[in-house]
Amino acid sequence: MSDKQPKKVLVAVAWPYAQGPLHLGHIGGAYLPSDIYARFRRSVGDDVLMVSGSDVHGTPITVKADELGVTPREIVDKYHPEFLTYWEDLEIDWDLFTTTGTDTHKRVVQDFFLKLLENGYLYTETSEQFFDEEAGRFLPDRYVEGTCPHCGFGDARGDQCDNCGKTLDPVDLIDPRSKLSGTTPVLRETEHYYWKLSAFNEPMLEWLTSREGWRPHVVNFAVGMVDDGLHDRAFTRDLDWGIPIPVDDLGPGKSIYVWWEAVMGYLSAPQEWAEIQGTPDAWKDWWEDPEAEAYYFVGKDNIPFHAIYWPALLMGYGGLNLPTDVPANQYVTFGGAKASKSRGVGRPLSWYLERFEPDALRYALAQSLPESNDSDITDDEIARRVNDELVATWGNLVNRVVSMTDRYFDGTVPQPGPLTDMDEAAMKARMDTLGDVSDLIYNVKLRAGIARAMTGAQEANVYLNDLAPWTTSKTDMTRTGTTLWVALQMIAANAVALSPYLPGTSRRVLEALGSPIEGRAPRWEAPEVEAGSKLSELAPLFAKVDLEATT
Ligand code: MF3
Ligand code: ZN
Repeated sequence: MSDKQPKKVLVAVAWPYAQGPLHLGHIGGAYLPSDIYARFRRSVGDDVLMVSGSDVHGTPITVKADELGVTPREIVDKYHPEFLTYWEDLEIDWDLFTTTGTDTHKRVVQDFFLKLLENGYLYTETSEQFFDEEAGRFLPDRYVEGTCPHCGFGDARGDQCDNCGKTLDPVDLIDPRSKLSGTTPVLRETEHYYWKLSAFNEPMLEWLTSREGWRPHVVNFAVGMVDDGLHDRAFTRDLDWGIPIPVDDLGPGKSIYVWWEAVMGYLSAPQEWAEIQGTPDAWKDWWEDPEAEAYYFVGKDNIPFHAIYWPALLMGYGGLNLPTDVPANQYVTFGGAKASKSRGVGRPLSWYLERFEPDALRYALAQSLPESNDSDITDDEIARRVNDELVATWGNLVNRVVSMTDRYFDGTVPQPGPLTDMDEAAMKARMDTLGDVSDLIYNVKLRAGIARAMTGAQEANVYLNDLAPWTTSKTDMTRTGTTLWVALQMIAANAVALSPYLPGTSRRVLEALGSPIEGRAPRWEAPEVEAGSKLSELAPLFAKVDLEATT
């Protein structure tokens, strides 16, 4: 039904550090929006490749391992499998969720390094880095904390300030202190590869300022950082836990900086996916064809890496597609506190999954996506949205229509009589819902998209209340049959409109109405619920939630 040619769409999602459980904030920040978007693009017939994986290297992992007195590998082996259970539970439908610990990733990263070297964007230099004399170790990135030179925040990490979002180098920090011993680190000479990021000031500014349709907060933040000036950055670290450089002129103990190799996962994961498919070159369709699109779903702390550094790395490599859009989200806060894995705020996902059905949780989160501002959410608010909106407007509508069809027509879809203006308007409204939701999702306005889909459900409720089949059933079965037939068409179309958001329950509705989904997503069109066909059993879509009874 779409007039658009099928496109290759890379849905690239931030790689979570495998060093702690994920919270609702992460789900609302990146994983749910990407899944909604990917499902929709599959529905309109595009070739979607949705990839990510566990980010397993660098100081985020080793600092945690040092704290717990275990190996980095043990940390990763605990959390990566845990992440896989979240995707299963929440129906986040990846094409591949891998890790940065694979051979393919290592090969792609080392190849990338050599290409940058060949293109003249890497050079070696000796510089002074922080060293902990008590621990006898260099202190890269998160091993140092101190005061942010940009905003004065006292607990900035050596890699990035959580307060202003700017990326940092440990030596930029004011009053630095070692995470290992608490002492003030000293400077010591060490040799590293450096990335000629300064060469990209102009192309980056030109590229960023010519983006169309990007969220203003993303462009503004990125342009602001480039305006401040892009400086050369160390490409390697004094750290064993990571991907070694593919040249041996720096000696042992050096790894590629975790961020520079993690973003390369967007290139390695499609290659791994292609290898698994048995078509090793297939990834090129997403990366080398200029018609292909690439959307990067990330939280706002990731904006510098996806809107500046990764595009700059790609420019340096050459011949690969730059991001089409980086629809970064702001934060979801819980009663005012940012849900952050590293700072431990917010309940574990498992707590919510024990209390809410997956689609109910997806619904409440989708209605609060922080697309343009931080959004605050509370457990009571989630329960209220489920009970007063999802159950009341959508779940009950489906139940009512299916049970009336059972009661008055023995579960067989009635033959409609002639359609009145009101019936025709309702039939058209269902098409408008599909069209409007489609426009919104194409523009990555996912929160407005679900609100619009719920308006569609509301319109079906209004139609039913106006036509009152429970009353006409006493006097006019033709009229009653027409009303229920129209209502069933509206419900089927609305289930499609809601399917990117509520995949599990939409699947059940469409199956009961005789239009089972073939493949991973329904076609983005109004299914025909055929008169004379028998509806199959449909249990209530959602249960009401009573948090008081379960806490
Ligand atoms: N691990 C990072 C985080 O949790 C995100 C990495 S995204 C990547 O913030 F693209 F760099 F992998
Ligand atoms: Zn700061």
